Amino acid sequence: MDLEKLLTDRLAPAFATVAGEPVDPVIRRSQRADFQSDAALALARRLGRPPRAIAAEVLRHAELADLCSVAELSGPGFLNLTVADDALAGLVSALAVSPRLGVPVAAVPETVVVDYSAPNVAKEMHVGHLRSTVIGDAAARLLEWLGHRVLRANHLGDWGTPFGILIEHLVDVGEAEAAQELSMGDLDSFYKAARAKFDADEAFRERSRRRVVALQGGDEVTLRLWRLLVEQSERYFLAVYDLLDVTLTKRDFHGESSYNDLLGPVVEDLDRLGLLRESEGAACVFPPGFVGRDGEPLPLIVRKSDGGYGYPATDLAAIRHRTDTLSATRLLYVVGLPQRRHFEMVYAAAAQAGWLAPPARAEHVGFGSILGPDGRMLRSRAGGSVKLVGLLEEAIARATALARQRNPELGEAEAAEVGRAVGVGAIKYADLSSDRHRDYVLDWEGMLSLDGNTAPYLQYAYSRIRSIFRRAGVAVRPEAGISLAEPAERALAFELVGFARVVDEVAVNLEFHHLAGYLYRLAAAFSTFYERCPVLRADGPLRESRLVLCDLTARVLRQGLHVLGIRTPERM
Ligand code: ARG
Repeated sequence: MDLEKLLTDRLAPAFATVAGEPVDPVIRRSQRADFQSDAALALARRLGRPPRAIAAEVLRHAELADLCSVAELSGPGFLNLTVADDALAGLVSALAVSPRLGVPVAAVPETVVVDYSAPNVAKEMHVGHLRSTVIGDAAARLLEWLGHRVLRANHLGDWGTPFGILIEHLVDVGEAEAAQELSMGDLDSFYKAARAKFDADEAFRERSRRRVVALQGGDEVTLRLWRLLVEQSERYFLAVYDLLDVTLTKRDFHGESSYNDLLGPVVEDLDRLGLLRESEGAACVFPPGFVGRDGEPLPLIVRKSDGGYGYPATDLAAIRHRTDTLSATRLLYVVGLPQRRHFEMVYAAAAQAGWLAPPARAEHVGFGSILGPDGRMLRSRAGGSVKLVGLLEEAIARATALARQRNPELGEAEAAEVGRAVGVGAIKYADLSSDRHRDYVLDWEGMLSLDGNTAPYLQYAYSRIRSIFRRAGVAVRPEAGISLAEPAERALAFELVGFARVVDEVAVNLEFHHLAGYLYRLAAAFSTFYERCPVLRADGPLRESRLVLCDLTARVLRQGLHVLGIRTPERM
């Protein structure tokens, strides 16, 4: 149980008695004491009484003796609360013997679909897919840890008109050659070559068009060639996930094509429900509340005028599948912010059709762009989009060089392993520690620095604690008594007992920068503690208590970083 909640539980009844109605005491961390409640101020206006009188009365009614060493009135009507050392120590002790570090499993486990990564077949993954992959994987890891049933959905772009071109190009190049090219991860040049032929060659264009028809008609030969493209790409994507420590597997690929059979029924049922309208030959839904700049209702095109189904139809079919067949109640879509309106319209249309009804709900977990040092969209030197793999390789190379330099004692193999953990971790952490709604600038020096809110800083803090135990050859006794005499010990204890609260909040808003910020504060509090409070040089019970604080810090750091998908090497 976290302190904010404990204090709220004690103060809320007192406020209710005084106000004659339920009141949220609004407990928050304070500069003046450990916590403060300002609720009396807002209440004063409502009750027409002086805030200090209200606060004083609340204090008389509140049962705080076992929890606070000081609970006092201050200023215009604040309540300042200082937590008793033994109460705080008790919470730390409970944490130390809790395998889940005080984080309970969800009271109501849900089935959650996390739609993330979703690169496109025969196309390179770009930095936008990096964000989706990293944020989505953190969401899946977190919700799974909280006991939810998490279904990962990699909504691969594996269908549509580009496949006519790609398949014809495959035929021209030869299957073996093409497989070779694709397996080397040279997806972009394959795609570009196909595209160039399409632009230049009328005969090729015609073949491509016929090929799309054959594909949609289920022609066996065409399907086999299509599968070849999909499989080669999937293999490549899996290699990227492996490099990234992302938990997506082959089983999680549910490409757009997998909804093909559901598209017809989606359109028929929308029609039966009276939700379809024809607009310029296309079958559209006009979900209420969406208008264009001209004030006209915006269409969601479910079937195009040429009879083909587009992106919205697939997403409608996917929603229906996820709520009906998979019984999911929480649908997460980790996709860039430019697609926000698409998803809002799809959700609204699905709700109209009755495919997305409470308790089921969908959330767009949107994110901004990654910018280059010039503050503009990240581009490669040639001006193209930056290859994800190139980015990772550069991060690993830089981190490995730094690892060798920082710790010459590391052997070749260990330096490589540390370099990988730190390089990949730095990339992921740079992403997850920034507010996902915003763009952020990719800054190599910054993200690999050992100072500041970075992966290496947290990984270093972790490895430093592990080395305390290793060097001294001591083990922690989790049930040892906790003493919190020093301010630095108390400050660290407050951070430790705050873990559950942050986890709880992030499980709702999926704003991982709050978890990152928390881990950073924890590591910083540890660093101050370790500077001021001797651990191995302390005696008896004090040493045991401090070892528990060290161990707990390491466990929380490791668990927190694990949720973010970041490794914690034992040595750095
Ligand atoms: N493949 C799409 C892209 O690269 C993302 C798909 C997102 N998921 C979805 N259900 N539409 O932009």
